[in-house]
Amino acid sequence: MKYQLAPLFCRPWALNGISPRLIESHYENNYGGALNRLNALTEELELLDPATTPAHVLGRLKREESAALNSTLLHELYFASLGGDGRVVPDAMAEALMRDFGSVDRWRQEFIALASGLANDTGWALLTYVPRDGRLINQTAMDHRQSIAGGIPILAIDMYEHAYHLDFGANATAYIATFMRNIEWNAVQGRYEDAVKVAPPRRLEQKEFGDVPAMSVEEVAAMLAAGTPVQIIDARPRHYTTKAQDIMEGAVWRDPERVDDWIGELSKTEPVITYCVYGFHIGCQTAITLRKAGFDARYMAGGHYAWKAIKGPVKLLQ
Ligand SMILES: [Fe+2]
Repeated sequence: MKYQLAPLFCRPWALNGISPRLIESHYENNYGGALNRLNALTEELELLDPATTPAHVLGRLKREESAALNSTLLHELYFASLGGDGRVVPDAMAEALMRDFGSVDRWRQEFIALASGLANDTGWALLTYVPRDGRLINQTAMDHRQSIAGGIPILAIDMYEHAYHLDFGANATAYIATFMRNIEWNAVQGRYEDAVKVAPPRRLEQKEFGDVPAMSVEEVAAMLAAGTPVQIIDARPRHYTTKAQDIMEGAVWRDPERVDDWIGELSKTEPVITYCVYGFHIGCQTAITLRKAGFDARYMAGGHYAWKAIKGPVKLLQ
């Protein structure tokens, strides 16, 4: 496979305080250099026999390949981040920044601080959309690495010295301020609009229990913190509890195979939450049984281990 060069996205003569000479050198030497390195590494990897190549050789080439690939991707994004007046953030973009950072100003301060922190270092400050969470975050990526898995960067400032030394010398602060004055926000918003169309990673889907109401562990924790009256039933199988050592604080263990023995203890005026070990079957089935008997019962998705994974309080299981 041969990677293709992207034409320069911004118009160098239209930039405010960044010289065409700097952009030309950056594009030709650093972006072009990364692309050529990427193609050379790709060819070298394709010619290797992975069955006989020493693992450390393959590992090194793959690390270099990911750095070169990220460098080309981030440089393309960098040039596509420039060319505007930096001031007017279009409505949809401003709303997204307000939602995830509190205000456009707060976003700006954090982004500038991240870039400034790289002044004596090498790396990128990025504004990245994370489809899993449906939100934007600022991040740094040192040495073309540390990109967020599944994240889609929509704005990038290059903090390698080659990005500013020709025009600004060692004055990274002036470079960052100039970059901010040249952000092409309409293009950033266009990338944001594309990014939000990316579906989040598929979640666990339990078709057989699709119509049983569930609660996330976070929702249950919030309910307990708010002091909402609730009855929590640990319905892990008996054989499991004999080796288990802990139980969710506030829960009582009840044998899921003997619901008839304990259902009479429950109040119909308070909601019931059931759970099992991982949240696949027993907790869901117990919730169904209780709902059929007229209780407002739900199961806690993810079960005992999801509760422990959010550091929900547990006590010794007696
Ligand atoms: Fe660069």
